[in-house]
Amino acid sequence: MTASFQASFGDSPELSIGDREFATLAKLVHDESGIVLADAKRGLVVSRLTRRLRDLGLRNFAQYCRMVQSEDGADERAKLISALTTNVTKFFREDHHFRSLEKQIYPGLIERARGRGRVRVWSAGCSTGEEPYSLAMELLELCPDAAALDIRILATDIDPHVLATARAGRYSDSAMAGVPAGRRARYFSGSAGTYEATPALKDLITFAPLNLVGHWPIRGAFDVIFCRNVVIYFDSATQEKLWQRFASLIPPGGHLFIGHSERLGRAAERYFATTGITQYRRTEVAVAASVADP
Ligand SMILES: C[S@@+](CC[C@H](N)C(=O)[O-])C[C@H]1O[C@@H](n2cnc3c(N)ncnc32)[C@H](O)[C@@H]1O
Repeated sequence: MTASFQASFGDSPELSIGDREFATLAKLVHDESGIVLADAKRGLVVSRLTRRLRDLGLRNFAQYCRMVQSEDGADERAKLISALTTNVTKFFREDHHFRSLEKQIYPGLIERARGRGRVRVWSAGCSTGEEPYSLAMELLELCPDAAALDIRILATDIDPHVLATARAGRYSDSAMAGVPAGRRARYFSGSAGTYEATPALKDLITFAPLNLVGHWPIRGAFDVIFCRNVVIYFDSATQEKLWQRFASLIPPGGHLFIGHSERLGRAAERYFATTGITQYRRTEVAVAASVADP
């Protein structure tokens, strides 16, 4: 029997997705983004894509599958991934990570930058920008002259929609609830309902699209990588490869932060020593040359 999931859409007849179409979309999403769509996600797939099918004038998921699989379906494949990513985030999420930066990590990096050194921080899977702006605020608190030094934060995501929000740096009152009043006044202009990150905050960050399971157009090393609440959607082999790719970009002594429900696997553990909750320091162990960019 073919299982199907349905979603109602206004007055329109309900859409349903069959086993074959779900398997097709799940494979495509996994191949393109590393995201695993377990069977339990059928309802989510239908509810997130129903409007898209209507907008495209398609009557069913079989037609949609043909469209995303076609040679000129690249744009729609990107929209599919975008529709299925989970972008939940907030300012100073998992605050203990920011306290570690403040007390243990940023002071040394700032000292290096003041001695004309280079410092790079990466928010990988930055969603709508709350994470990189939190990293930048924490930095400016300790180093108001950061703009004059060689310190930069790279913020990347696979989803162009969330990146556009991140670049704009405009946040609702509810999003701003996580920013203490003093920092809100120092690093955001406007008032209730119209908060926007100041140029001083934005200028520390470079936003760019990047697929973590694809090619990384990245040169140089990172002192700190935040990749939090991203790999929970990946299978363990993809996670393991990603940790090793990060290890190849973090010099010994550099730092990796992951999400509260994420773990490093066996293969990656030798590259990282635990320094706190879901917080790691890069060891001296060299990464095999086979950890190549795909
Ligand atoms: C739940 S958010 C996490 C945001 C932030 N790091 C945090 O912890 O609050 C996960 C983000 O990972 C992004 N993402 C998922 N798969 C990705 C991939 N293959 N490459 C880059 N980003 C990806 C999603 O678009 C989403 O914005």
